[in-house]
Order: sequence, then C-alpha cells, then structure tokens
Amino acid sequence: MKQEDSTSEPLLRVRRSPALRGTVSVPGDKSISHRALLFGALADGPVEISGLGAGGDNASTMAALRALGVPIQQAGTDARVEGVGLAGLQAAASPLDCGNSGTTMRLFCGLLAGRPFVSTLTGDRSLSRRPMARVATPLRSMGATIDGRQDAARPGDLFPPLTVRGGTLQGIEYQLPVASAQIKSALILAGLQARGRTVISEPGLSRDHSERMLRFFGAPVSVQAEQRSVVVDPTGWNGRLRAGAVSVPGDLSSAAFLLVAALIVPESDVTVENVGLNPTRTGVLDALHAMGADLQVKVTGQAMGEPVGSVRARWRGSGLRGIMVAGELALRSIDEIPALAVAAAMAEGTTEFGDLRELRVKESDRIACIARELGRAGVAVREAPNGFSVTGTGGRPSQGGQVQPDGDHRIAMAGAILGLVASEATLVPSQDIATSFPSFAQLLQRLGALVSP
Ligand code: S3P
Repeated sequence: MKQEDSTSEPLLRVRRSPALRGTVSVPGDKSISHRALLFGALADGPVEISGLGAGGDNASTMAALRALGVPIQQAGTDARVEGVGLAGLQAAASPLDCGNSGTTMRLFCGLLAGRPFVSTLTGDRSLSRRPMARVATPLRSMGATIDGRQDAARPGDLFPPLTVRGGTLQGIEYQLPVASAQIKSALILAGLQARGRTVISEPGLSRDHSERMLRFFGAPVSVQAEQRSVVVDPTGWNGRLRAGAVSVPGDLSSAAFLLVAALIVPESDVTVENVGLNPTRTGVLDALHAMGADLQVKVTGQAMGEPVGSVRARWRGSGLRGIMVAGELALRSIDEIPALAVAAAMAEGTTEFGDLRELRVKESDRIACIARELGRAGVAVREAPNGFSVTGTGGRPSQGGQVQPDGDHRIAMAGAILGLVASEATLVPSQDIATSFPSFAQLLQRLGALVSP
C-alpha cells in the first residue's frame, strides 16, 4: 500500500530554471515492458529483454509473474525471462499485488481467465478505485468467473480486489464500448486460450503494442485495420510463443515531460534519443506541432515492429498557440494530456481538451487534478465532464506552491515542469513519480533544471 500521510512524503523542490540543454535517453517504455515480460513468460524458452522500464508498474508485473512460477533474473534494465508457456503457469501462494498498475491488473485478468486455478489480484489505493467491470464482463462471457468488490456509489461496476477463477474459455466477438489497449490485450490473452476465434473491435485504435509483439513472437493474432479489429484464432496452434530477444525503446510518455519542459523554458534545446514512435502513441507530438512547437522527429530504426527514433524540442521565441485536442488526437495522446495541459498553460490563447472522459478513471481523476493544479498556478482553466479548457498565459510565469498529485505519477511530473516557469518555488510530492519514471528529477537536473530533492 502507498504511504497515505502526505506530510512525510519526500518532496521535490523545483525553481524557475535557465535554458534546458542536452541529449538524454529515458527509461524503457512502460507499456512495451509489461508485454515483453508477460509474453516472455509464455514463450517456449528464455527471452532476453534489454532496456526494460525501470518503474514500479513494471516491477509489479515482474513480481506477479514470479509468483505464478516464472523464473526471471534481472540486472538493471536487462532481464531474462525463462518462458514456461501457458501450461507452465502455477497458482500463486498469495494474492498478486498489482500496486498502482492498471495494465498489470487488466492484462493478468485475461491471462488468468483461462488458467485452471484461482487467483486474487489486489492493488494500491488508487488502483482499488479503478473500474474493472469493463474487463470482467467480456471475460465472463468467454466463460471465466470473476468476482470483485462492489461500490454503492458506482452501481454495476466492479473494483479490486478481484478473484479470477479460470476455466475453459470460448472465443467471442466483442465490440469494446471505449477504446482501450488494456482491455483489448486482456481479451487477446484470453482468446489465445479459448476454443474458436475471438474478434475484438474498438471504436478508435488504442495502442497496438500487444498485436505487434505477439505477431513477432509467432502468436495466431492478426489485425483487420479497416475494421479496427484484432482476430485471435488459436485453432491448431501449439500454445507456445517463439522465444527471442526483445529490445524496449524509451518511453515517449516519459519523454513528453522533458520535451514540453524544453518548449516552455526560454532558450532550451533538448533531444531525447532512442524513444518509441509507434503511431498510436505519437498524438502528443502531433498536438505540439499543431501548437507551433519547434520539434524535429527522426525515425532511426525499428525494434520488434515498433518504430524508434529521436525527438528534438527547441524553445521558440514566438511561443505556442492554443489548439483543439479531441477525437483521435485525444486517444493517441491519452497519457500525455497532463504534459500537454502544461504546454497549453504557457501558450497564447485557449486549448480545448475534449473526448477525454477516460481521464476521470486513470491513476487519479486527471481532469479534476489538472484543473486544480493549473488553477493553483494561476492559469485560467475550465472543467467539463469530458474534458477541460485552458487559456494560456502567453509564456508569462505561473505561480509556485505545493502540488497535490493524488498518488498520480503524471500529475506530479506535470506539476514539476510547470514549476520550471513559476515565479516562486514549487514543491512536488515525488514518490509516485517512480511508478513510471524514477530518473525524472535526475534527467531534468542533467539538462540544467533547478530541481532538488
Ligand atoms: C495502457 C493503455 C492505456 C494507457 C495506460 C497504459 C497499456 O489505458 O492509458 O497508461 O499499456 O495498455 P487504456 O487501456 O485504459 O486505454
């Protein structure tokens, strides 16, 4: 469980900073690292992973796999997963603690739905408030038994802890009501264990790392791009993924905070190298481009079907301008909205953020948190049920103060980068940042930011 007493939490002190300059790499992509570990466990032999994400969420996935009998050796950002195949997973002796990680909980629901044993999945305070009916409902219709906690305030939904009683599954055709890579991936994992075909469609294309990596590992998964559908057909498949080496690119969601910092701190010039540039994730770069940012994006190679490259961000005297972030652009930048909100806060004019109802059920209610934190910093912001709008200061400094991240790593990092252009010091409770980006403060310091623990 997370430490709930905010007074004893470590604080990051951020001051108005001179130009940020330099070239850095960020830790491995969190989404791809979860999948490398989990799919590696289903391989027919050892899988060597390099560049593994360093955060607490990926550690939760690793610990859960070990508890299910998968041997994993880790040395820094390298890991060797001894694939045991689906049939090699064993019941865990105690509940699987998913920590703060929604991806761990939802993907494991799909994995465990087809295993012939009972598993319990728990999480921290933030994860225990996140909705799970969205994954339990389709898995139940495939034949799994999933129970959880009910909450009178949100009838009809289901919350952790969850109990998954795996069993024989039947393939289904399922249309996701809301695009979600976590639910899609859970259903792919269940589909691989089911009888017959599973077809999963979504209203917009969520990140497709599972589809890319599973195909790389030889799984019977195909994509019908026009219908935004994934087809899983395990008929005749031997149930084992082909082992191989996996190299994880840097996390664009982490890089986004450094890039936005470079765009708002005068005279900055920052390059992030070896970062994942999967088109389902690059909405943040498109949004910043549309705001008038000076960004140079170079694709330099591929890692397991994932484009990888570098992004250079330079402050531009004439500043950023307000835009509309909604629809497909909102989906493709779903985790970067807190970073984009900071860019909007320093832009000229109003940025409208819409179609973002999902932000209310992330690690925190991100719409409420962003509105509160921008308001604290003296930025004009208006909250709506499905989004918010920000009228920027046109580059003038914001106010400092104490950030309240509500246990959310991305709210904490957004508060910190806004502090780089604040007139007084900003204090950021920092322990949650390690969920995805433990070296955040260190990299900012290396670029010249005035950040101290
Ligand atoms: C993730 C999917 C997204 C994203 C989350 C990571 C993943 O969530 O917001 O941080 O790794 O599959 P949804 O599945 O809710 O869209």
